[in-house]
Amino acid sequence: MVMQEMKERLRYICENCGYESPKWFGRCPVCGSWNTAKEWKADGISRHEPGSVTFVSLADEEISSLELLPSPFEELNRAFGGGIVPGSVILIGGEPGIGKSTLMMQICGYLSQQGKTYYVSGEESTRQLKMRAKRLGVDTSSFLVSNDPVADMVLATASDPLCIVFDSLQTLQVSWLDTPPGSVTQVREAVSRITEFSKREEVPVFIVAHITKEGLIAGPKLVEHMVDVVMYFEGSRNTDLRILRTLKNRFGPSGEMVIFEMTESGLKEVANPEKVFIESHRTSAGVSYSMIMEGSKPLCVEIQCLVSKMQFNYPRRISMGLDPTHLSMLSALLSKKLSVPVESRDIYLKISGGFRVTDPGVDLAVIAAILGSFYEIVIPHDIIFIGEIGLDGSVKRVGGMEKRIKIAEKAGFTRICIPADAGGSSGKTIEINDIHELVRVIRMRGRGEDVQGDNT
Ligand code: TYD
Ligand code: MG
Repeated sequence: MVMQEMKERLRYICENCGYESPKWFGRCPVCGSWNTAKEWKADGISRHEPGSVTFVSLADEEISSLELLPSPFEELNRAFGGGIVPGSVILIGGEPGIGKSTLMMQICGYLSQQGKTYYVSGEESTRQLKMRAKRLGVDTSSFLVSNDPVADMVLATASDPLCIVFDSLQTLQVSWLDTPPGSVTQVREAVSRITEFSKREEVPVFIVAHITKEGLIAGPKLVEHMVDVVMYFEGSRNTDLRILRTLKNRFGPSGEMVIFEMTESGLKEVANPEKVFIESHRTSAGVSYSMIMEGSKPLCVEIQCLVSKMQFNYPRRISMGLDPTHLSMLSALLSKKLSVPVESRDIYLKISGGFRVTDPGVDLAVIAAILGSFYEIVIPHDIIFIGEIGLDGSVKRVGGMEKRIKIAEKAGFTRICIPADAGGSSGKTIEINDIHELVRVIRMRGRGEDVQGDNT
């Protein structure tokens, strides 16, 4: 009798946040949303029979047979940790239209030459998939597609898979739940079945996930902890550049990134990315360059700044690609240490190419760009700034200094402004101790030109 009750016990799960309750609720007590309680019947099958837990010696585990699967992209393989690890679940996130399905199709097309790849799309019809495959010039001989994103069914049906792709998380479901596809319960169940399968069968599984600026409810965040690798596509849809960033990788380096270019025939890796984020080639005041580290890779970024008259009765700090709090801090430092009256100006700052920078090595260049715009100084285009600024106005070294300097030289910069304690100095470096000395650097003449637009 008791068993019977246990078996049929009803639960209510909030579709929004996953809150569980034995009683129905109109409004979720955790997230506060209305009418999100969905009935859920526990199947009563215990997964914890006595003796169901077993241990094996780690020493006996055979790892030599784990062969990495290469993707068609060299840099991406490096980001994966040498190649795609069999038995890994990889989440590829990004805004709609950024190129996730394109990437997956290119990878599947490549892998399908070695074995069966299964592409399950809840987003596009098989005809549309075929059209894309044709456009991308993808070999479709062992490329199997389906429009039924029912995870458990797919996993039971796919025979001898080399790789499986689910596109997308938001359409995922399992056969025994009747909540809407992509809802919290569906997604959690589906992903947990997928990881279970992937580990057991040693098959890599990709899950594509949309993110929107507002942040989706049943979004990728919900399953990040369940998967092995989390990668996010970034970049604005207005440019061709796409950045794939590794947020988490259980088998390889995290913090790595790969730069792609979206072309007529799909995504192509950018071979020499150090200068791709440069837009304006320094024709105006308020532009400066810095060399940042993305994972192990130095990258040149362009900072554009506009200092203008205050529009309201408080100074605004608007920033794209750099944390606005960081911008506020650096501008406060400017008014305090250099007595530049930016507290009565609005400051707009943009990192070109839709790129997001969190590297503190960009500080010097940000200050240089603000000063450049404020004083209407065009900083000569062969100067680059690398260094962090402390709240006392001192300039500090950042990690990977030598690498950054080397790539800056390779990218054609002939004057590299760095902290005095940076090391790695060469004939091309200009060493400074604090932001007072930075003012001297941005007032330097361009090679073979007059000092420009200085109205101080
Ligand atoms: P897609 O991979 O469908 O985006 P997602 O799956 O992330 O939503 O990419 C769609 C965009 O990419 C679309 O705007 C068209 C463009 N695109 C190309 O420029 N070249 C190509 O070869 C392909 C297939 C797509
Ligand atoms: Mg898509």
